[in-house]
Amino acid sequence: MSHNEELVVTTSTARYPVIVEAGALERLPQHLASLHLDGALWLISDSAVYPHYGSALEGRLRGAGYTVHSHTIPSGESSKNLNQLGQLYSWMLGGGVERRDTVLALGGGVVGDLAGFAAASVLRGIALVQLPTTLLAMVDAAVGGKTGVNHPLGKNLIGAFHQPRLVLADTQTLHTLPPRELRAGWAEVIKHGVIRDAGLFEQLEHWQADSGAPNMDLDEAFRQTPITEIIRRAVAVKVAVVSADEREQGERIILNYGHTVGHALEAAMGYGTLLHGEAVAIGMHAEARIATAIGLCTPELVERQQQLLSTYGLSTAFPSGIDREAILALMLRDKKVQRKRIRWVLPAAIGTVAVRDDVAVELVRETLLGL
Ligand SMILES: NC(=O)c1ccc[n+]([C@@H]2O[C@H](COP(=O)([O-])OP(=O)(O)OC[C@H]3O[C@@H](n4cnc5c(N)ncnc54)[C@H](O)[C@@H]3O)[C@@H](O)[C@H]2O)c1
Ligand SMILES: [Zn+2]
Repeated sequence: MSHNEELVVTTSTARYPVIVEAGALERLPQHLASLHLDGALWLISDSAVYPHYGSALEGRLRGAGYTVHSHTIPSGESSKNLNQLGQLYSWMLGGGVERRDTVLALGGGVVGDLAGFAAASVLRGIALVQLPTTLLAMVDAAVGGKTGVNHPLGKNLIGAFHQPRLVLADTQTLHTLPPRELRAGWAEVIKHGVIRDAGLFEQLEHWQADSGAPNMDLDEAFRQTPITEIIRRAVAVKVAVVSADEREQGERIILNYGHTVGHALEAAMGYGTLLHGEAVAIGMHAEARIATAIGLCTPELVERQQQLLSTYGLSTAFPSGIDREAILALMLRDKKVQRKRIRWVLPAAIGTVAVRDDVAVELVRETLLGL
């Protein structure tokens, strides 16, 4: 992929650009104009992101002639709820929102999902622009049109598909992201390499050495080295998968690699103990071990993946004291399980996965016990 090749999501219902650039937020007014998004702008952000980027962005948009309203939610997953959604509706309807207006979601996946669902539902749907500021949101949450909120009975149970008109990821915003959040995002980047892009995986393997700072702490190296290229390549995987399968009926399942075990770990440990990406890293390791146990991939793949995850600061060790039987029970209860068969996404080689629903529960149990 060449440096400035534009990424475009194309589904049966939508077509939109995904721009990944350092400093991209500075050019937001021009992008909005070229998409003819000329109504009022409803900027939604969170309490950690707005102070860094929100007010500057607002000023820039006003300077370009836009009417901008802004609203900030408390930072964190606990804001992704019906109560915050209700407050967004009151703010927008009370402020005279119109069908021709646009919601700007500036933040991580929490802001993107909540603001996205507000845009999907207010006045039966208005335009949405995703401005992701976490690595996870850039390579995953902001692209693909899934929006929604949590319910006391479970995560992401209420929502809608609502494709954005534009995704604009300004990689410079990652400089203020807490290092642990950044590391968690690397898990999804590495996942995209394993499931669909061997070249990305190799680039990740070589990047740290090539950055000329092999002894430097990775987070520090990241702050000094432009890695927009790598991030764009990881985003390209999501763009391709979503374009092939908008509604999660087919290929989109491959994004679930590492997540069958990962989700069970998050639930078993209590949400918030492990970050999502940290659970996915452990899940990728466990699932690659299952793939070796059924003869789908070599033990070398497991080692290579483990090495890369660890280079990017991610542990693959199964948390001690976690009951394997509880993990197994949680996996069998997952909403993606059909007729008691878990649909596993398993690596065959770096860059290629297979979907298998014929893995014996006993084999999974033994693999988990061996971790
Ligand atoms: N819609 C989808 O397809 C999809 C996919 C994956 C995940 N998600 C959702 O995404 C959410 C997780 O997203 P996340 O990991 O981005 O979490 P998040 O939005 O909570 O952001 C993580 C933390 O970083 C802070 N932050 C964000 N950007 C920052 C920046 N540039 N500088 C300083 N601080 C910053 C936030 O305030 C927050 O405290 C979950 O709710 C998950 O369900 C959705
Ligand atoms: Zn994920």
